[in-house]
Amino acid sequence: MAKIELLRAREILDSRGNPTVEVEISTKHCKERAMVPSGASTGTHEAWELRDGDDKRFKGKGVLKAVKNVNEIIAPKLMGMDCVNQKELDKLMIDLDGTENKAKLGANAILGVSMAVARAAAAENELELYEHLADLSDNMTYVLPVPSMNVINGGMHAGNKLNIQEFMILPVGADNFKHATQICSELYGELKTIIKDAYGKDAINVGDEGGFAPPLAKTEDALDLLMKAIKKSGYENEVKLGMDCAASEFYKNGKYEIDGAKLDGIKLVEKYTRLVKKYPIISIEDPFAEDDFKNFSILTREIGESVQIVGDDLLVTNVKRINMAIREKAANALLLKVNQIGTVTEAIAAAKLSMKNKMGVMVSHRSGETEDSFIADLAVGLKAGQIKSGAPCRSERTAKYNRLIRIEEELEKNCRYAGSEFRQPWLIKVQKKNIISD
Ligand code: PGA
Ligand code: ZN
Repeated sequence: MAKIELLRAREILDSRGNPTVEVEISTKHCKERAMVPSGASTGTHEAWELRDGDDKRFKGKGVLKAVKNVNEIIAPKLMGMDCVNQKELDKLMIDLDGTENKAKLGANAILGVSMAVARAAAAENELELYEHLADLSDNMTYVLPVPSMNVINGGMHAGNKLNIQEFMILPVGADNFKHATQICSELYGELKTIIKDAYGKDAINVGDEGGFAPPLAKTEDALDLLMKAIKKSGYENEVKLGMDCAASEFYKNGKYEIDGAKLDGIKLVEKYTRLVKKYPIISIEDPFAEDDFKNFSILTREIGESVQIVGDDLLVTNVKRINMAIREKAANALLLKVNQIGTVTEAIAAAKLSMKNKMGVMVSHRSGETEDSFIADLAVGLKAGQIKSGAPCRSERTAKYNRLIRIEEELEKNCRYAGSEFRQPWLIKVQKKNIISD
């Protein structure tokens, strides 16, 4: 038995300089820690992130209440228990909280403990974290994910006028994960030069997730810029595009305010359909507001065979919302963020439910991150096949990619890169296009 001998939390800083929770755990043989990420474009259905709310410290963003909840409520209950029982410990915390959205103890308090417990269990079993998470997920093989690297930032993450929050590159044609990071880094460098030449050096400052935030106003301007960089870097065959629209942020009074227009859902479906025909886009996240299941379903029906429609604010890593989406055929992929739901056990359940229903799973960071690379191991352990962790820039982003490089090296031939899984539908699409143009 691997008894938890110490469990304590502290307030640390995240990548935006805001406070967040860190949890430390000790057993007889190990001492581990975990850090909790935090979003900016958060969905209203997410589990509750507990902040102090008084104006004196950190303008109300302090997390001392969450820290106290770990130290005074959770720790006394978990101390002495066996850290390998992830499910049992997560359930105990869920029951201790007793609310639907973890509002009493705070999802940030509970998640910090849940992640730290997973790390301690891995160490006690003398396993790498990804091996332990694979065990918890009943996976026997290892897959290195395709990274979706967010290289142009807009929306809530940048100071420009772009409505779409993230423009991402997906190196599906890379030979392996390490090669994928090389492709993205080279392309990112080309993009930097192009932006600097066109808009001056003020424009190469980066946003919260490490992507550039040039003074562009329209979606197509950003996509054109990306296409230019792809061409210049010579990676037309290796790289596809993805977008996270985070559309809840530009949904106002029943209309989608994008690119200077006010569109209803159907007009926005048409806009996305046009974009997908013009650019090699294979993944669109949150194309509509978080409760607009109807238009999500229409878009999935229209383009879902060749394009991944990802639910982030729509699904919030919550099996109830995922079941709703499955019933309505509203999305064909899940964006998995551990802090949207608050425990490792529930995040694994969300991924497994999605996979069982033939949905893709993209493991995701938050815009407020830390140096903790837990999600890199989670992506491999879950066999998710996809990860998004921002640009190949800023250490809280590259911490995850660098961890994946190490995992790939360690696994050598005992793993594969997920790129091939994404090539097939696109090939079909490209062939169709050629037939039409012939
Ligand atoms: P967030 O952004 O972490 O600010 O929510 C990431 C996303 O929307 O995917
Ligand atoms: Zn999103």
